[in-house]
Amino acid sequence: MSSSVVVVGSFNVDHVWRCESLPAPGATIAGRYSTGPGGKGFNQAVAACRAGADTHFVCALGDDAGGATARELAAQDGFGLIAEASSEPTGTAGIYVDARGRNTIVIGPGANAALSTDFLQQQQALLTGAKVVLVQLESPVQTIEAALATAREAGVTTVLNTAPADAPSTIGLLKLADVITPNETEFAALLGRHVGERVDANDVAALDGASLHALCRKLVGNGTVVVTLGSVGVFVSHADENLRGDTQPYYRVGAEQVQAIDTTGAGDAFNGALAASLAQVADAPFARHVRFANQFAGRSTEKEGAAAAMPRFTPADAEALRA
Ligand code: RIB
Ligand code: NA
Repeated sequence: MSSSVVVVGSFNVDHVWRCESLPAPGATIAGRYSTGPGGKGFNQAVAACRAGADTHFVCALGDDAGGATARELAAQDGFGLIAEASSEPTGTAGIYVDARGRNTIVIGPGANAALSTDFLQQQQALLTGAKVVLVQLESPVQTIEAALATAREAGVTTVLNTAPADAPSTIGLLKLADVITPNETEFAALLGRHVGERVDANDVAALDGASLHALCRKLVGNGTVVVTLGSVGVFVSHADENLRGDTQPYYRVGAEQVQAIDTTGAGDAFNGALAASLAQVADAPFARHVRFANQFAGRSTEKEGAAAAMPRFTPADAEALRA
């Protein structure tokens, strides 16, 4: 089996309430309800597929309606779904979205928490045949570590989206990734946890490039760090010895100008599109992949929903956007 992007991670049934503002503790408010597919892993697989990559998704599903939905939607979108059958219910998420498109999420991991290293080991051929393996941290950290280690050993490009912020991680895990993609909150959490640097998440975007670069280097040494900063854009930091086709070790890329109505899954859109681009045109300068992923992510915020909001790019669209 061979595939250009393999995503390992979570699937959730998202239950979404759209409200004027996010509820304060103790408050009862009304919102417009909808439900749809989500989970960071699934969203990223949909994004990679719609960004034009041959994609497979490895996950754990319950024996219930949510699990059946995941299988149907993957088949409709045209990517492979390889699921470990779990006796736990399929993952769920409760999401509140405010009038400005910002969100608060609570997840019920369910089956996602049962994705086993044994099952991952059974997918060795798939993982080692990929161009890019993309993972997040809504699945057990040992399982994610096993996926990265298998891919790394085979020389496959590894991308770790360090989300959510409170997920356990180790320095060893971060070092198994060629690229890590924290948002500002996750970046601050990783710095506090792993290198004893206290930085407020709200201050990250305002730090000067040299300071951000130094913090990134302290965190991962050799790897590339892409800090996603929402509407501000993205900060990229490479190790001097591996600029990934770029000419500068660090730089910023501005965000797309969009009318965001729902930012749920925007980070996932970015990660899936980045992985797809890295797999499709491996030798392009890294900055081009980042610009492509930014545009893809920007478009995803103009529609409601997580997986359902991912735009669709033909190979020709993708080529034009990267140019
Ligand atoms: O990143 C957005 C996703 O986070 C949602 O789809 C929700 O399921 C949670 O996993
Ligand atoms: Na969206």
